[in-house]
Amino acid sequence: MPAYAVIGGQWGDEGKGKVIDYLAGESDCVVRYAGGNNAGHTVVNERGEFQLHLVPSGICWPGVTGIIGNGVVVNPDVLLGEMAGLQQQGIDTDRLFVSDRAHVIMPYHILLDELQEKARGSGAIGTTGQGIGPAYVDKASRDGIRVGDLLDTSEQLPDRVQAAVEMKNRVITGVYGGEPVDADEILARCHAWAEQLRPLVRPTEQMVQDLLEQDKRVLLEGAQGTLLDVDHGSYPYVTSSSPSIGGAITGLGINPQSIKGVLGVFKAYSTRVGGGPMPTEMHGRAGEDLREKAHEYGTTTGRARRVGWFDAVAARYSHQINGFTGMVLTRLDILDGMDDVKICVGYRVGDREVERFPANTALLEECEPVYEGLPGWKEPTASATRADQLPANALAYVRRIEELVGCEAQIISTGPSREETIAINRVMH
Ligand code: GDP
Ligand code: IMO
Ligand code: MG
Repeated sequence: MPAYAVIGGQWGDEGKGKVIDYLAGESDCVVRYAGGNNAGHTVVNERGEFQLHLVPSGICWPGVTGIIGNGVVVNPDVLLGEMAGLQQQGIDTDRLFVSDRAHVIMPYHILLDELQEKARGSGAIGTTGQGIGPAYVDKASRDGIRVGDLLDTSEQLPDRVQAAVEMKNRVITGVYGGEPVDADEILARCHAWAEQLRPLVRPTEQMVQDLLEQDKRVLLEGAQGTLLDVDHGSYPYVTSSSPSIGGAITGLGINPQSIKGVLGVFKAYSTRVGGGPMPTEMHGRAGEDLREKAHEYGTTTGRARRVGWFDAVAARYSHQINGFTGMVLTRLDILDGMDDVKICVGYRVGDREVERFPANTALLEECEPVYEGLPGWKEPTASATRADQLPANALAYVRRIEELVGCEAQIISTGPSREETIAINRVMH
């Protein structure tokens, strides 16, 4: 049985958690492949409301295995805390596993994230402050500590932690004027983490490969969104991993042929948290009204999300990067009751048209959206479960987005709960 990927098509928070929870009922395994606890995935179902940061969003289904793949950076305290919280809410976490190749977010990564952001001043990225960037830097520079290293009983771990802390302290104190961290304290935490994580640690790439060989259905859960991709996003205002389809392959160790479907999750409008260009951002009263109506505040940091109209130029670009086999459109209900709605169909700088989502961030900053207006709808889409319940204008809005992006909507989400979902086509075969 093949794998299906669920990937954020915009700047994150598209509703991936909801979609994964919805699809996981028909799956055997859900695997996170990138990012870390910068992600905040909300799941709402008959068992309650859950905010997941590291644990895959299929966890509410008793028979579904959850895997945190090698491409994820893991803060063990967050993972253990999240598991304990889920258990308190009556959710079984016995079928959760973490890759021995996943890198550990160490306390100095979190400190460096904070210090670097401060040093960037007005050019701050607006990171989630969870140490994500510094952890991926160490992975690339080959100074990282992996989950498997924590369990290693040879004498290598103390030496490696000591060496890493010495280097980091030089940067923390010398470059940023921060307080040094203590190697012994960190090593003691590593030993404690090792004992607690040991039952979960597996060669997960083999697990996923075996599941696929056994004809099991595997869902690949994206975090963040394609426009935050370190390669393809609005660099440098991006995260430090690959949320797009390429990251799913390297972040799990599966072959591309096993991926039969790639679902792009898009909000019916746009949001972004942190700095960086966002051509369709709504400023002033209109933006505030939409933010309040939609309650757009970050799941991980509580920060106000920037809001704007649907950007079809960015969405088409995202589709090109990922090759979506279908689209999931979420939060259509938020647009209920508006007199008219807009879609950005092009960018303009002065009198020059910009046809594609540009790599140059300064140029993207200058891009003015070209809008197409469509009539709104007064009847609600909220909680609809069938396409024929949608008002004609809402359906026309969806159809226009499909046309502009070049990809069909297979699922429309009309509310946060699992059942507030319209399945247009069968996604998994
Ligand atoms: P993720 O990071 O992509 O999983 O998305 P988040 O969970 O950070 O943000 C999406 C928010 O929208 C959450 O509060 C969800 O419960 C909520 N949500 C998801 N789909 C819908 C929908 O169709 N309608 C409404 N009103 N809320 C939704
Ligand atoms: P989910 O999975 C929205 C943003 C941050 C910041 C930038 C870099 O819930 O969709 P980082 O801490 O990763 O170094 O921050 O990326 N960001 C997200 N925005 N949703 C997310 O995850 C995000 N993860 C990171 O706000 O702009
Ligand atoms: Mg989120």
